[in-house]
Amino acid sequence: MGLSTRHFDALIIGAGGAGLNAALQLANADLRVAVVSKVFPTRSHTVAAQGGVNAALANVMPDSWHWHMFDTIKGSDYLGDQDAIEFMCREAIPTVYELEHAGVPFSRLDNGKIYQRAFGGQSQNFGGEQAARTCAAADRTGHAILHTLYQQNIRARTHFFDEFFALDLVRDAEGVICGALVLEIETGEPLLIESKATLLATGGWGQVFRTTSNAHINTGDGAAMALRAGIPLMDMEFFQFHPTGIAGKGMLISEGTRGEGGYLINRDGERFMERYAPSAKDLASRDVVARAIVTEVKAGRGCGEHGDHVLLKLDHLDEMLIAKRLPGIRESSRIFAGVDPAIEPIPVFPTAHYAMGGIPTDRFGRVAVPAGHGEEIVAGLYAAGECACASVHGANRLGGNSLLDILVFGRLAGRDIIDFVRDNPYQRTTDAASLEQAISRLTRWDQTGAGIAVAALRAEFRKCMEDHAGVFRTEAVMTEGYQKLCELRERLAEVRLTDHSRVFNTARIEALELANMMDVGISIAVSALHRRESRGAHSRPDYPARDDQAWLKHSLYYQDGDRMDYKPVRTKPLTVESFPPKERVY
Ligand code: FUM
Repeated sequence: MGLSTRHFDALIIGAGGAGLNAALQLANADLRVAVVSKVFPTRSHTVAAQGGVNAALANVMPDSWHWHMFDTIKGSDYLGDQDAIEFMCREAIPTVYELEHAGVPFSRLDNGKIYQRAFGGQSQNFGGEQAARTCAAADRTGHAILHTLYQQNIRARTHFFDEFFALDLVRDAEGVICGALVLEIETGEPLLIESKATLLATGGWGQVFRTTSNAHINTGDGAAMALRAGIPLMDMEFFQFHPTGIAGKGMLISEGTRGEGGYLINRDGERFMERYAPSAKDLASRDVVARAIVTEVKAGRGCGEHGDHVLLKLDHLDEMLIAKRLPGIRESSRIFAGVDPAIEPIPVFPTAHYAMGGIPTDRFGRVAVPAGHGEEIVAGLYAAGECACASVHGANRLGGNSLLDILVFGRLAGRDIIDFVRDNPYQRTTDAASLEQAISRLTRWDQTGAGIAVAALRAEFRKCMEDHAGVFRTEAVMTEGYQKLCELRERLAEVRLTDHSRVFNTARIEALELANMMDVGISIAVSALHRRESRGAHSRPDYPARDDQAWLKHSLYYQDGDRMDYKPVRTKPLTVESFPPKERVY
């Protein structure tokens, strides 16, 4: 029996905020759009976003998109592209109103306007007083947004392939990407989806680290597919460790807790952030707070029997406020940390949270790769959301800018695809060799005999990433880590499955995910090893200073030979003056 094939105008891989917002534009324009998701769409990781989405609505205090832009550039440690950042901060305002009109149940102020809370790195008037810019639906903002977008897509008749795993991109005889080979998890049967345009919106890869706030599904599938297609990954060394994961477990305790008045203390009961960030204190940018926590623990001022975490205090807050604004946090703390934050503090430690780097795109979601002295667009291939790097976060993302990024650039990618499909109305046909290569990713797991178990290699790999690519990184630690990762990569060939059944074979999915995670993990390790400076989340005690002379540039990792390349940061905004690099103080 031949391979089943379906045709669509656009194929979207991933059903989080970026994928669904792109799909909605396309479906509303009457294009035939397919969304492939390895989980039921409303289980995509956007559902876990807690604190909110940034937009300078000025509902609580004066605000402007220009201040938001300044904070984002400063937060990025000046590595973010200023044109893309200006664009995102301007678009934030209509994007949030569009969501409100689509039915997102935002929390409300007494005057009926959208509730906005303070988040880290936000200021008024270019570095002045704390701002309150994060639009929230209690502490379940992602949940509210994702469900609304899904419902709108159902109404617009988007075609969903739920519980289908994307194996690889496919190309036509000229090498142009024309869809993807996917696997129906329920039946174990492959399906070829050919499309005029393909959008990767597969989210992040926090699972490459042992302790993470990310869902099990965040295994970097789209980024690994891009690597295998010869596309470099950009700024991969910049991975965010959220300061407040539940200690030892990693689940997220929203920055919204500190936005509502919570603060961190060490074993002496000291509010230690006052020493590290005298002005912003607990609402300094995430890289600063995460480093402060690790430093306190390393200095012997950690809490608990092993002195391996600090405490987040909320018990001074009004219980009604906790119930109204932080109900999910209270529940998570009770379940995973065994504490009621209205009564006692939560044990916290940094947790792997967010990928600042990813598949390089322009601000229309088009994948853009170096060519000659400039860049070229990869025809028909788009990326949006956490798997993409439109370069709005640079070396450190501000809390609340993640939901914003996925919604703004998901929407823009959708709109650009509409134009692309209008100009390129003919479906390309998959080349046999390309298809064969994609199918081999699946058949490889049919190999039988004795071998290493997926779970064992996965555990070793994730521990290696945690030990060698964490909050603080030195040449020696990273070199050792890279060597270990290369050995683990070779051992992947020895992995065998014991379950070769077809129907709902999750062991095979885990094996496919492990291969993706290893590709992406190595890109982080190599990119980090090469950057000899400290910038944002990439902190090197052996090169403690930021070095704008040598390193104000984006990194590009190519899988072929673990090769690095670099390209300039775009420091010219669209309509306003540049913000030149300055020392970052909070
Ligand atoms: O802390 C949080 O609620 C996370 C928000 C974010 O990563 O943007």
